[in-house]
Amino acid sequence: MLAEILAWVTTPATLDARRTGHLTAAVSLWSRGMRCRRAWGPHEARCHGVVARAVEGLERRRTCLVLGSGLVRDVPLALLAERFERVVLIDVVHLWPARWAGRGRANVERRHLDLTGTTDLLLGRATGIGDPFTRLCADPSVDLVISANCLSQLALLPVERTARMSSPVRRRFADLGRRIVESHLAGLARFSARVCLLTDSEGIDVDASGVEIERRDLLEGVRLPPADEDWDWDLAPIGEYAADHAIRHRAHGWVDFHAAMARDPGGRARRRRGADEGMLGSRPFREEGP
Ligand SMILES: C[S@@+](CC[C@H](N)C(=O)[O-])C[C@H]1O[C@@H](n2cnc3c(N)ncnc32)[C@H](O)[C@@H]1O
Repeated sequence: MLAEILAWVTTPATLDARRTGHLTAAVSLWSRGMRCRRAWGPHEARCHGVVARAVEGLERRRTCLVLGSGLVRDVPLALLAERFERVVLIDVVHLWPARWAGRGRANVERRHLDLTGTTDLLLGRATGIGDPFTRLCADPSVDLVISANCLSQLALLPVERTARMSSPVRRRFADLGRRIVESHLAGLARFSARVCLLTDSEGIDVDASGVEIERRDLLEGVRLPPADEDWDWDLAPIGEYAADHAIRHRAHGWVDFHAAMARDPGGRARRRRGADEGMLGSRPFREEGP
């Protein structure tokens, strides 16, 4: 607890990240990551493998953007820094471990950015949502974009906060969670560079004997095309969230997300229909985020 308070106080975060709660969420992710280090190891290794495949097939390696870079555990930073002229770590907040990870690597930069464009709305300074992708997509030197396990996380805080705002805001943004997930995917689709997507899609509660007791959608009903790799991520061993069950996430990696979308031409309509029909539900699950 003391370490968390110290991290909150000493991290050079923007006032916005403190006021929206992004800093608090990042500190709690760091703390959970420390406790679950061993359980998360295989998941992180799978993520590194997918990113390495994405890097291998590239003709040019000028700039690599890492969206949702967080603590830089899911991406092999040494490999990226070695292969690319420039690596830009993008997150709403960068804790000390992320800052240290880039230390001594002159071609690694950090950029603070709210990838949902909702900060001004949440802080009552705007009535709509911004588009953070316009500037990112405008950089012609970008050859690889990695969306690093942030897709299922982006909507959590905005949905939670707008639920506490005035009723006109609540009404106008009743589908905010799904809009955020869809906007992120639409933003990725706008890059001409290769896009490598890492995300979890479902949370599964598993009891002590390994029996599944509940399954939740983590992507607001939005369906994705078949992934290049799928695996289980042991997010919370028994005792981390609950005494009687563990939490496992279904995780996925797309080496080349544009190619996966092109291979799944009917998928877009199906995904849209599935979301409209609420096939997977759209309940945000705040407590369970990694
Ligand atoms: C599961 S973590 C990703 C872990 C990270 N890829 C790593 O290797 O440690 C989700 C990340 O999404 C970031 N995030 C959540 N909301 C965000 C937002 N609105 N804009 C940018 N990043 C956001 C969090 O700060 C967190 O670092």
